[in-house]
Order: sequence, then C-alpha cells, then structure tokens
Amino acid sequence: MQTVGFIGLGAMGAPMAENVSDAGYPLVVYNRTRSRTEPFAERGEIVADSVREVAREADVVVVVVTDDEALEAVLEGDDGVLAGLTDGTIVLQMSTVTPAATEAAAEAVRDAGGQYVDAPVSGTVGPAEKGTLTVLAAGPDDLLGDVEGVLGAIGEPIVDCGAVGDGARMKLFVNLLLGDMIGAFAEALAFGTAQGLSYDDMQTVVEAGAVDSPLFSIKGENIAADDFEPRFPIDLQFKDLRYAVEEANDAGVPLPQTAAARETFSAASSMGHGGEDMAAVVKFFEQVAGLSVGDSES
Ligand SMILES: NC(=O)c1ccc[n+]([C@@H]2O[C@H](COP(=O)([O-])OP(=O)(O)OC[C@H]3O[C@@H](n4cnc5c(N)ncnc54)[C@H](OP(=O)(O)O)[C@@H]3O)[C@@H](O)[C@H]2O)c1
Repeated sequence: MQTVGFIGLGAMGAPMAENVSDAGYPLVVYNRTRSRTEPFAERGEIVADSVREVAREADVVVVVVTDDEALEAVLEGDDGVLAGLTDGTIVLQMSTVTPAATEAAAEAVRDAGGQYVDAPVSGTVGPAEKGTLTVLAAGPDDLLGDVEGVLGAIGEPIVDCGAVGDGARMKLFVNLLLGDMIGAFAEALAFGTAQGLSYDDMQTVVEAGAVDSPLFSIKGENIAADDFEPRFPIDLQFKDLRYAVEEANDAGVPLPQTAAARETFSAASSMGHGGEDMAAVVKFFEQVAGLSVGDSES
C-alpha cells in the first residue's frame, strides 16, 4: 500500500485525506496551522513537522492548498517538498492553480527526481466528504494508473483531461461557468426583488424551466435561509475568475461575462464578504441597491 502524504488540511483537503485513510492508505499529514492536524493525530496518522518530511516519507504527496503562491511556498525552500523528494515520488497536485504554475511546478518536481500529476477537483465540501468529487486528472497514463486508487478514494468520475496543465485548464473552464452562473443568479434575484416578486415564486419558476440547475436550488435555499457558511468562499471563486480571465487574455479570447462576474466578486470581497460562501455575492447587489433578497418581507 502506498503511503500518502497530505499537505493542506483545509475545507477540502481534510475530508479528502479522511477518505484516502478510510480506503486503507497510511497517511503522513502536514498543515501550516498545526491545530488542523489534530483530528488526524487522534486517528493515529503521522503528523509531519514540515512538508519536506511529508515528501521524504510518502510515495504519493497530495497537495491541496489555496493558490499559485501557496503551491510555490510548499514546494520551494530548505524545508519544502522539493528538498525532501526521493526518486520517483509522485506529487499529486489537487489545488486550483493556473496552468502556468502547474507546468512550472511539474518541471521543478521532475528536476528534483519526482513525478507529477495535475489533478484538481470539481465539487465542494459535501462531495469531498462523500468521496464524490469530479477529478480532473492529467499526466502520463502510467502515472495516472499509479494514483488511480488514491484518486478513486477522493472522487468519481476521474476525467482524463490530457497532459499536465490540462487538468488546471479544465478546472478554470468549469469554475468560470460556476462563477458566471452564481453571479447571474444573484443579479436576477436582485432584479426580481426590486420588482416586488416573491422569492419563493422566483425559485419555483427557475426550477420549473430550462434554466433549472442544482446550483440554483442549493444556493437559492442558502440565500433564503441567510446561510453563508463557506463551502466555497467568495475569495476562492474570485481567484478562479481572475485566473480564467488572465489565461483567456493570454490566449486572445475575450471573456466579457466572466470579467464582469470577476468584478462583482471583487466588490463583494472588498465589502468584507470574502470569507463567506460564494452565494454571499448576492450581498453586493443588496448593498448597492438597498435591497434584501430572500427576505420574506420583500
Ligand atoms: N472549497 C471548495 O469548495 C473547493 C472546491 C474545489 C476546489 N477547491 C480548491 O481547493 C484548494 C483548497 O481549498 P479549501 O476550500 O480547502 O481552502 P481552505 O480551507 O482555505 O484551505 C487552504 C489550505 O491551504 C493552506 N495554505 C495556504 N497558504 C499556504 C502556504 N503559503 N503554505 C502552506 N499552506 C498553505 C492552508 O493552511 P492554513 O490552515 O495554515 O491556513 C489550508 O490548509 C483551493 O485551491 C481551492 O480553490 C476548493
């Protein structure tokens, strides 16, 4: 059985690691804020003092951290992953980062004697807990085969997206759509509220028609219940929209809707809602238009 390292035990990394442990893989875990490792220590898993130690002890090193900067921070430095890699160790990068950061990380890992799989995930905390994330895997076929068991514990389906970098590209594709959709939903709800429409009726009309989506049902309920507990927070969605627009600019593809959504998320973050769930983007419209969306009084 491969020993699996986990770097980053946040909202996503912790349940992903638990599922890998439940599938029978021994773990060695690290989190910058050590308190997040406590549930793993209680389960009898090894808690490492550095990411270098994780890389030294594990056959497969799963990374689930915030962004490009966090990925670079865990790879580089005297105590970084690269310093601890032994020949053939597989770095399984599952954070949402840019294709450029992915390709640079893969090159650095290979230069240090390791191997690299690019495998971000689509889905949020609930699917992470259930082990039903969609895995956007990319890399050589033999390597994908080597990590199939670990990926299978994390999610299903496992979509083979192509070469390293293509997993990151697929992730930006789907989160661009997600950000555009939730931004448009919040905007439509603000419009309807301003027109005096009933929130419940708007939700019924959405769910009965061609625009129906589980996203609108789930987030519609959250908005009605004033439940903005972060599953996927505003700041992470803002990051992904930024990455998508930057990538598209480089490719010469205009993304006017996504750029608008990015600015809406930027504004919601500036207003202090960055740590709340992405559904809290509705608060941007509430604050600028003086509305209360989902309030039974309105
Ligand atoms: N939440 C979702 O629904 C969702 C869904 C799909 C993909 N993702 C992606 O998955 C990744 C993790 O998301 P999350 O929701 O788990 O975020 P999170 O709860 O904020 O966790 C982020 C993790 O990254 C670590 N980290 C950040 N900067 C670091 C650094 N410089 N050095 C070392 N560790 C660092 C954090 O450590 P500390 O505990 O010390 O802060 C924490 O373990 C992100 O790329 C996100 O876009 C999220």
